[in-house]
Amino acid sequence: MSKKIQIFDTTLRDGEQTPGVSLNVQEKLEIAKQLEMLEVDVIEAGFPIASNGDFEAVKAIAKEIKKPIINALARANKKDIDRAWEALKYAERPRIHTFIATSDIHMKYKLNMEPEEVLKRAVEMVSYAKTLCDDIEFSPEDGSRTCPEFLYKVLEAVIDAGATVVNIPDTVGYTTPVEFGEFIRGIKENVPNIDKAIISVHCHNDLGLAVANSLAAIENGAEQIECAVNGLGERAGNASLEEIVMALKTRKDYFDCYTNVVSEKIHRVSSMVSHLTGVSIQANKAIVGVNAFAHESGIHQHGVLMKKETYEIMTPESIGLKENNMVLGKHSGRHAFQERLKELGYNLDNDRINEAFKIFKDLADKKKEISDKDIEALVNQDVVPIVEKYNLKSFQVITGNNMVSTATVKVKNKDEVIQEAACGDGPINAVFNAIERTIGVNVKLEDYALKAITSGKDALGEVTVKIDRDGNKFVGRGISMDVIEASVKAYMNAINKMASEIN
Ligand code: KIV
Ligand code: ZN
Repeated sequence: MSKKIQIFDTTLRDGEQTPGVSLNVQEKLEIAKQLEMLEVDVIEAGFPIASNGDFEAVKAIAKEIKKPIINALARANKKDIDRAWEALKYAERPRIHTFIATSDIHMKYKLNMEPEEVLKRAVEMVSYAKTLCDDIEFSPEDGSRTCPEFLYKVLEAVIDAGATVVNIPDTVGYTTPVEFGEFIRGIKENVPNIDKAIISVHCHNDLGLAVANSLAAIENGAEQIECAVNGLGERAGNASLEEIVMALKTRKDYFDCYTNVVSEKIHRVSSMVSHLTGVSIQANKAIVGVNAFAHESGIHQHGVLMKKETYEIMTPESIGLKENNMVLGKHSGRHAFQERLKELGYNLDNDRINEAFKIFKDLADKKKEISDKDIEALVNQDVVPIVEKYNLKSFQVITGNNMVSTATVKVKNKDEVIQEAACGDGPINAVFNAIERTIGVNVKLEDYALKAITSGKDALGEVTVKIDRDGNKFVGRGISMDVIEASVKAYMNAINKMASEIN
């Protein structure tokens, strides 16, 4: 009989540890809602002891998201576990996830603890967590580099202490598929009480093997896979959720396993996560890259035209990409717009539809044909509306190849309209300098990226900026057919996010 694999999504915890990524509470909640619609089994909502923001996000998610298990991370100490529980206790199905390193190198150099002490701590903390919550996950950090005999002892003891899930992390992305498969089989065969817990794995992608290692683990007894949307995560990331789900679905004949994930929602969730984190998806990324379903070679195109399956092992529709020949334009009404939003998987309330429709109409005045990608970009733009402390009234830029670029900006803050001018190396630099003057704060621009949403000279430009203020990072996005305007919108968006959290 086909085996169910639980999908444990860690986009909001390990995924948020992606260098440069920082999500606020509303953004995390929005992603959690999407993950619930995707029907993942577990959402790892955060690491509550790490920051107040993480604590508040876990609490908000625990209160609002009902279907999946809500999981929070804690090191193996009472303070971490108490904090995790304080945020988690509102959840309908809470899970505490506690961890301690078990490999020789981590125990000796990081923890400065003897193996017996680690074993004792693991058992004590699982027992303690169990007094608060029924569902306890235990991870031996750097599990894949842990001496198997010691690992068997630790796992047996934590299961006796009440762990319901034992998660084996390949923390540094070091293992390889056959090796890891055998490692998991060893656990299954040598931990006497293993049938009382679910075996889970958590693979990092340092050698590009996270998905392959996770699949090898499934073949050898793992029943839960920890993964993240778009493969986000610490360093090279975690196993990518969409690749795991589609590998199991497409090769059901081989794995004989299934997940509950509604694969048709993958595209939507992936693009929203990319939008909110500011981490763009490489074009040739499996499943969700823009090229994933594009056939360039004539031979392939011919084959696909004759019979899709010649070169297509899964359909674009299976991840929610719709083949749509109907473009919208300035004569399209609200009804057609709303219908298209629904087809694209957006269930917005009336106010949001009205707002989006207004932006759509403005765009349709300038651009003849509006594609699905344009619509997604403009809806994603304010997926999490923010209170604008600084409201851009107007800007003007003078630029050329033989002159210093200058910009003038008018920004409203409460009842005051401030106007400032500045010069810079190019129009973007000039206008960013002028904006900074109007708000009177020095902002460090960490990253700037511009991409065209569609092809053609009238394509929408989408700008993503990352700014840093005292180590806190904020991502802003803006879209417009005018790339300077898109840049200004993105910068103002990041500054307003900063203002709403810091001031
Ligand atoms: O990579 C890792 O070891 C982790 C654990 C906390 C599960 O993220
Ligand atoms: Zn990890």
